[in-house]
Amino acid sequence: MKIILTGGAGYIGSHTSVQLIRNGYDIVIADNFSNSKPEALRRIEKLVGMSVPFYKIDIADKEALSELFEAEKPDCVIHFAGLKSVGESVRMPVEYYRNNIDTTLTLLETMKEYGCKKLIFSSSATVYGDPASVPITEDMPVGKCSNPYGRTKYFIEEILRDVSKADPTLSIVILRYFNPTGADESGLLCEDPNGIPNNLMPYIMKVAVGRLPRLSVFGNDYPTHDGTGVRDYIHVVDLADGHVAAVAYADSHEGVETINLGTGNGYSVLDVVHGFEKACGHEVPYVIAPRREGDIAECYASPDKAKALLNWEAKHNIDDMCRDSWNAISKNPDGYPAD
Ligand code: NAD
Ligand code: UFG
Repeated sequence: MKIILTGGAGYIGSHTSVQLIRNGYDIVIADNFSNSKPEALRRIEKLVGMSVPFYKIDIADKEALSELFEAEKPDCVIHFAGLKSVGESVRMPVEYYRNNIDTTLTLLETMKEYGCKKLIFSSSATVYGDPASVPITEDMPVGKCSNPYGRTKYFIEEILRDVSKADPTLSIVILRYFNPTGADESGLLCEDPNGIPNNLMPYIMKVAVGRLPRLSVFGNDYPTHDGTGVRDYIHVVDLADGHVAAVAYADSHEGVETINLGTGNGYSVLDVVHGFEKACGHEVPYVIAPRREGDIAECYASPDKAKALLNWEAKHNIDDMCRDSWNAISKNPDGYPAD
């Protein structure tokens, strides 16, 4: 089966590319490098020991995408391409709606034209907003997102449900990721955020290698075991394997299915800090700072549906995530080199 990965040069896409190839799939990567670098492709090729077809295109560019489908005739698409910074989406909502929704619409039109029926979409636990209870199951209410980025994911999910209703022969899997972190154990692939990171693990990594002075822990008065925010961190290689399982599922089912990809375990900010200190062998300086607007106390997945439908479950624990994140940042303290 041939699979196009839009946004395949990014953090999750690059790890998924490797896992798909290791599982025998033919892949084609399409990316415009708006948040990634060509070096990611070279690292993927080094890891799998073969060349990987690549198209530098904007997924919203209809003509370019049609040329790609014409040339490659894919059976399935995994749609990672999108802008993903929560803070940036608050400052630049139009750019976020334009990029995330346009890429999806152009992709759906092109898939229809070329008879491509299988789609896996990168959604997010952010669509649950502030959940009434944890663990979060897929049937809990969605849509009360605290920022434009989250709303793009919610709107796209709704679009995909409408499209599936109109054509029940499509096979669409919406994956709601919890908090992806870690890296391939080789240390060749890494998360390479532009500028100062927003997310916890990339921030801790930059502090641990001395590129930033200290972490600000956003709030220690939440109703959690140590007062700091609790999240479901999931190793990116487990997440990538979840996509491999979703592709197999899409190949044998029709309709639309929404599935959480998380571990079912919640860790606090301080749990992650201390886990990372164990991995890197020195202290990670931090200060307690005010709560960050829009943050919730606790968020972790029920992984039961993923286990039942995909026969998939996360294998790595928080120590593995800290070890592999430390390995990756130690080998790439300034991210990937630019071309
Ligand atoms: P990333 O920024 O590393 O990867 C996204 C890739 O898409 C980048 O390589 C970027 O250059 C590319 N891209 C963006 N717009 C494009 C366009 N118009 N045309 C072509 N390429 C384009 O992000 P990631 O962490 O790998 O996330 C992948 C997907 O998963 C995104 O849709 C993101 O919203 C979603 N997601 C991520 C997280 C997370 O914490 N990392 C959590 C939940 C959901
Ligand atoms: N945190 C800090 N200091 C920091 C960064 C984060 O204390 O410098 C805390 C946050 O307050 C939160 C926890 O670390 O308690 C995790 O924060 P992240 O920003 O890493 O992750 P979020 O859960 O807030 O959100 C992330 C993505 C969303 C996505 C969601 C679920 O940013 O886009 O995970 O996938 F939707």
